[in-house]
Amino acid sequence: MLDHETNRKLSQVGADTPMGALLRRYWHPIAGAAEMERRPTMPIRLMGEDLVLYRDLSGGYGLLDRHCCHRRADLTNGYVEANGLRCSYHGWLYDARGACIEQPFEDIADPDSRFRDKVRIRSYPVEEKAGMLWAYLGPDPAPLVPTWEPFTWANGFRQVVLAEIPCNWFQCQENSIDPVHFEWQHENWRVRARGAAGPYAPKHLRIDFDEFDWGISYKRVRENTDENHPLWTVGRNCLWPNALFTGDHFEWRVPIDDDNTLSIGWFFNPVPKDRRPFAQNEIPCWRGPIKDADGRWITSHVMNQDFVAWVGQGTLADRSKERLGRSDRGVIMMRRQFLADIERVERGEDPKAVVRDAAVNDCIELPIFDRDFFVDGWAREDLADAAHVRTRSTLDFVFQSGQPADVRAAYVEAMGFDRDGGAG
Ligand code: FES
Ligand SMILES: [Fe+2]
Repeated sequence: MLDHETNRKLSQVGADTPMGALLRRYWHPIAGAAEMERRPTMPIRLMGEDLVLYRDLSGGYGLLDRHCCHRRADLTNGYVEANGLRCSYHGWLYDARGACIEQPFEDIADPDSRFRDKVRIRSYPVEEKAGMLWAYLGPDPAPLVPTWEPFTWANGFRQVVLAEIPCNWFQCQENSIDPVHFEWQHENWRVRARGAAGPYAPKHLRIDFDEFDWGISYKRVRENTDENHPLWTVGRNCLWPNALFTGDHFEWRVPIDDDNTLSIGWFFNPVPKDRRPFAQNEIPCWRGPIKDADGRWITSHVMNQDFVAWVGQGTLADRSKERLGRSDRGVIMMRRQFLADIERVERGEDPKAVVRDAAVNDCIELPIFDRDFFVDGWAREDLADAAHVRTRSTLDFVFQSGQPADVRAAYVEAMGFDRDGGAG
């Protein structure tokens, strides 16, 4: 149970809030790079700030205030040029650092005044990594965009999947450190969804949590596993500050504002050995629906089941009314770490898991127990009898509803699956 003040402290993300200041110390993924191949600008709302993301004609990215400094026109309608974004209303041109580099009429009417030198628009750096575009809204010097180990893997089919979720980011992130929900919100949900009342999935018997440099690992023993199982000896990871990492994918929960969250996932499927070497020219990116045509929540896929749980907690979960039990030890650890980090930021220190060392950032290793599978690939004959290959190499994308046909086709081709006859 939390008092209202602490609840607000952990959830609100405006620039003048403690958590807003903390989260601004990290890079956040905000879009798929492939999305910007198809359009020059995109409105972005990030931690309550209205911004415009653009890709100029030289291929450089910028993230500016959504509204022009002149008379506030929407820069989403702007023209991208060789070195920046030009407002469509009266033609003021901005570069990615926020400098106003042209004011067409002012430059003619009063060239000596150099009015443009007095104008700056709010701007934030953008970097591309792993097929995603990342933004940093914090103070200089900016840290590095983390090179998480899976970003360095070759011979895999990768995809980026987004959805906007109408609730606060913090309850989404609490889900990243919640092993028991898997049994109920996913496995038993599927049992009930197919009309059966059982049998239910193996119960969780023991859980534990270990802090490490980049997050907190969570571990489990279930009725069908023991302490020698890698789900206990290594576990899965809540990655700092706002992601889940399970080996084959990351899920970030990026605050759009206090009431909305961008879910952005990065997925990796190693291709079988007989398809190697495999190079993917562009990492496809798609946005999935969260409700069906009748307005009902979609619950057929893993992350959609999570979305329903998060939104069901309310736009902002009222933690003054919760009753935490033994299953919530990780949630409590996470909240304490955030509160401690807020204090560190207030003291002028870096919070947990900020990456500044370029040598460290060559490749940041994470706890992964099936690394061989991801790095070395798998033999096609293993598909029939190795569970870890079968469950991680399915024909259908199980994580989120709405995968476009062209992405599916590219995946099927990469994996060498039989086009319509299953996973081969
Ligand atoms: S409002 Fe943008 S140039 Fe006038
Ligand atoms: Fe989940």
